[in-house]
Amino acid sequence: MCGIVGYIGEKNCVEVIMAGLHRLEYRGYDSAGVAVVTDGALKCVKSVGKLKIMDKKLEDNPLSGPLGIGHTRWATHGAPSEVNSHPHFDMPMEIAVVHNGIIENYQELRNELQKEGVTFRSQTDTETIAHLVRKYYTGDLFVAVKRALQDVEGAYAIGVVCKDHPDLMVAARHGSPLIVGLGEGEAFIGSDVPAIMKYTRKVIYIDNGQVCEIKRNSYKIEDIQGNPVQLEVKTVDWDDAAAEKEGYPHFMLKEINQQANVIRNTLRGRVHEGSEEVNLPDMNISLEELRACQKIVIVACGTAWHAGMVGKYLIEKFAKVPVELDLASEYRYRDPIVPPNTIMIPVSQSGETADTLEAIRIAKSRGAQVASIVNTVGSSVARESHGVVYQHAGPEIGVASTKAYTSQCTAFALFTIWLAETRGAMEKAQAKEMIASLRELPDKIQWILDNQDDIKRCAEDPKYRDAQSALYLGRGYNFPSALEGALKLKEISYIHAEGYAAGEMKHGPIALVTDELPVVCVATDGDVYDKMVSNIQEIRARRGIVLSVATVGNEGIKAHSADVFYIPECFEPFSPILVAVPLQLFAYYVATNRGCDVDQPRNLAKSVTVE
Ligand code: F6R
Repeated sequence: MCGIVGYIGEKNCVEVIMAGLHRLEYRGYDSAGVAVVTDGALKCVKSVGKLKIMDKKLEDNPLSGPLGIGHTRWATHGAPSEVNSHPHFDMPMEIAVVHNGIIENYQELRNELQKEGVTFRSQTDTETIAHLVRKYYTGDLFVAVKRALQDVEGAYAIGVVCKDHPDLMVAARHGSPLIVGLGEGEAFIGSDVPAIMKYTRKVIYIDNGQVCEIKRNSYKIEDIQGNPVQLEVKTVDWDDAAAEKEGYPHFMLKEINQQANVIRNTLRGRVHEGSEEVNLPDMNISLEELRACQKIVIVACGTAWHAGMVGKYLIEKFAKVPVELDLASEYRYRDPIVPPNTIMIPVSQSGETADTLEAIRIAKSRGAQVASIVNTVGSSVARESHGVVYQHAGPEIGVASTKAYTSQCTAFALFTIWLAETRGAMEKAQAKEMIASLRELPDKIQWILDNQDDIKRCAEDPKYRDAQSALYLGRGYNFPSALEGALKLKEISYIHAEGYAAGEMKHGPIALVTDELPVVCVATDGDVYDKMVSNIQEIRARRGIVLSVATVGNEGIKAHSADVFYIPECFEPFSPILVAVPLQLFAYYVATNRGCDVDQPRNLAKSVTVE
């Protein structure tokens, strides 16, 4: 939520900042702003709405300089408006601050500052930081920021500049992500790597409670008490093209279409042709720990939680270890029991989701071994876990998660085989067969992608495009598919959609079925196929519009369905990885046919770094 970019160097900082903000627009897009230190003054341009409005405003009011900070906002405190957009300033407008996060004690701070004579311009929590820095500023910006942050409670990543210091930017982090990028005679700050990937691969991940003084050719990191901190400079190996649309109209469509390769990348190096072994050394779990494990707890939010449900079904079926699946936002507040020999598996694309991080901290403090499934290398979830399976899905920019989901499910399949074999719950022959099935998935996904025109055409049909509501049903391994399919449709098309376990249909949702309700039924080949057909008949009997997802070769299902999307035949427990693809495409095409901005859906932001 909210994107921060800062630059100091030879280039025009506004160009660098705007390029970075465009890369971060998935984090928030209700307003934006840039502040520049130039010729002994602090100048600022702000705008409400998406960044293209800001681009236009900068065209009309050109701004340039060697040092500046910028922000794209996802509102928390104070409605989206020019006055509430960042940067925020001290009273004389000499210190500028951009912020991502929430200052929890801002009201208290604001009251105190007001008593001291400060006048606030906005309703935001961030403005308190600017006034606090001014309060403690006696000529040294680094010192003033550290002191100000000692008064602040909550989550923040901030960038600060001051008109007196044309050679200096200060950045700090507690709870919200922040990186410092190092170039030749230039330096950057950003909320996320894609913001600066165009310019440098050398990155420092600032940790909680740390403040960084950044100059063109040097930097210094301390904690807020002033103790020096040494951090490693890491080299990021993401390809810059990965953060571009590469000819697709939307990142979401690009990311859906990348999934064959994404799954190859998730499997790469972890399984080999003809082998029955899975290698997940970075999970940092010993074979003894795997054997001793009594319970697995999966925590995640949203789509990642749906992947966690796929994980639960796989682990319990094949490795025979009880799995508790929890929403991270529930887990953290419900005093969970963590028996000895518990392994927690948090799942997170961004690795920055606030609730998931808090769930990890609770489980760790109660003795769990934490091994996460994460896409973003170096993210907080990865760093706070004892071990990690990186998804290797590449940057996911579209706000609706697609490739991250299928790769998370794939990571769970790998972990399941490893766990089951290690515990003696699975014969080598079965492991070998399952690995072979996994290795076939990329080609099968490609087949679905190659046939997406049928899905595109179907999504143009007014009975789907103009629907008010939709129901998604699935059973067993594909219950999570129903949940995920419904989430995709609702978040990008704004059609109300609910995912249900098909067996629950008669316990309530059947009351919704009319001749105007599309019901998406996942009826792929497998143990629960006949049960799904019964559900389909019941919906047909009530004149509902059945859209089935079935296995290639099943011609019979056409008789019961208004439309059918096919997936290739596959090992049933892995079918959610294939089923996700037509459901993502359907949601994408319905939403674009309705004229929705799928990459930046209303009210959503990519990474939920605040509660
Ligand atoms: C839905 C979506 C969200 C995320 C959720 C968790 O398309 O993207 O539901 O899955 O916010 O985010 P991460 O995986 O970054 O922890």
